[in-house]
Amino acid sequence: MSVDRDILQLARPEILALKAYQSAREEFVGGAREMILLDANENPYPSAVNRYPDPMQKELKQKLGKFKQCPPDQIFLGNGSDEVLHLLMQIFCVPGKDKAVILPPTFGMYQVCADINGVETIAVPLTARFQLDVLAIEATYAQQPKMIFIPSPNNPSGNCFPQEELLTIIENFPGIVVLDEAYVEFTANASLLNRLDEFPHLIIVQTFSKAQGMAGVRLGMCYAHASIIALLNKLKAPYNLNVLTQKAVMRQLDRQDEVGREVAEMLAEKNRIITTLEGLALVEEIFPSDANFFLLRVADSERIYHQLLEEGIVVRNPSKQVHCQNTLRISVGTPLENDMLLAAFNKINRS
Ligand SMILES: Cc1ncc(COP(=O)(O)O)c(C=O)c1O
Repeated sequence: MSVDRDILQLARPEILALKAYQSAREEFVGGAREMILLDANENPYPSAVNRYPDPMQKELKQKLGKFKQCPPDQIFLGNGSDEVLHLLMQIFCVPGKDKAVILPPTFGMYQVCADINGVETIAVPLTARFQLDVLAIEATYAQQPKMIFIPSPNNPSGNCFPQEELLTIIENFPGIVVLDEAYVEFTANASLLNRLDEFPHLIIVQTFSKAQGMAGVRLGMCYAHASIIALLNKLKAPYNLNVLTQKAVMRQLDRQDEVGREVAEMLAEKNRIITTLEGLALVEEIFPSDANFFLLRVADSERIYHQLLEEGIVVRNPSKQVHCQNTLRISVGTPLENDMLLAAFNKINRS
């Protein structure tokens, strides 16, 4: 219980005091009696979308909770992880005062969220082999950072961080730890979702945009202590997840065997691409990947980036990020797309 109070002490007082927008019908629908809904000025003629969505996504959270073995009151659903990250920063960081730790090279959205919310970041670069610099991270604790954002597997390097090191950080960090597991389905390394109850200040973010194949519907998930979820629910836009998204995700949860097969195929394809690229003189190094993309180093990434564009292939050039000079980040495509990628690399290698 004292733990609950501690996490709430990390939240901004105005967020704690906030009174959420209340949808009038929430307490009356879903019961035994079919109600006539004349409370929200909707068009009453039925279609798939004439009614506002369930603001708390109860049915979807039940189903997702069963799939993830997580109680619904520890789940928040957002319009992509992007919304989740923004809300978390708004809850915990006082603009112009609080600080957040980021670990570059890292997912760019953390810095964008910090900039939008007027939050100073403390950047602790990974090592040149894209590993956590735990001592340097611990050295930031003297500045009392409010949050730390750790993507594992990391984007853009693709590797997972060792679980013991993650746990060391989680155990000792003075604020909120956001562990972004956007690519977790691609790795044999375990999610820390089943350790949530041990760490009330740990927040795990996952997404339907990657392995689940639903980037277009925008669903980000956040798993955390129920008191953090309650704050997220207070802060979010009342109808942040539309009806179509909720339905599509319900259906996708019934297709998990197929998703598993797609993930296995993407991983096999990743190994095929890497094995072939490793044989090319052009490719200097391919970094270990636990995701559906990989980072490779070449002599001149700018030139190859543009040559791939000429072949009709778009990859990412993260070379401006720390330790990423002359690298390209490449996502795994369909087998046919991957064949075309390899053909393009072969052509560039010969030129
Ligand atoms: C580490 C990481 N987190 C989150 C996301 C974004 O997820 P969403 O589509 O749910 O906003 C990405 C997308 O590239 C990512 O790499």
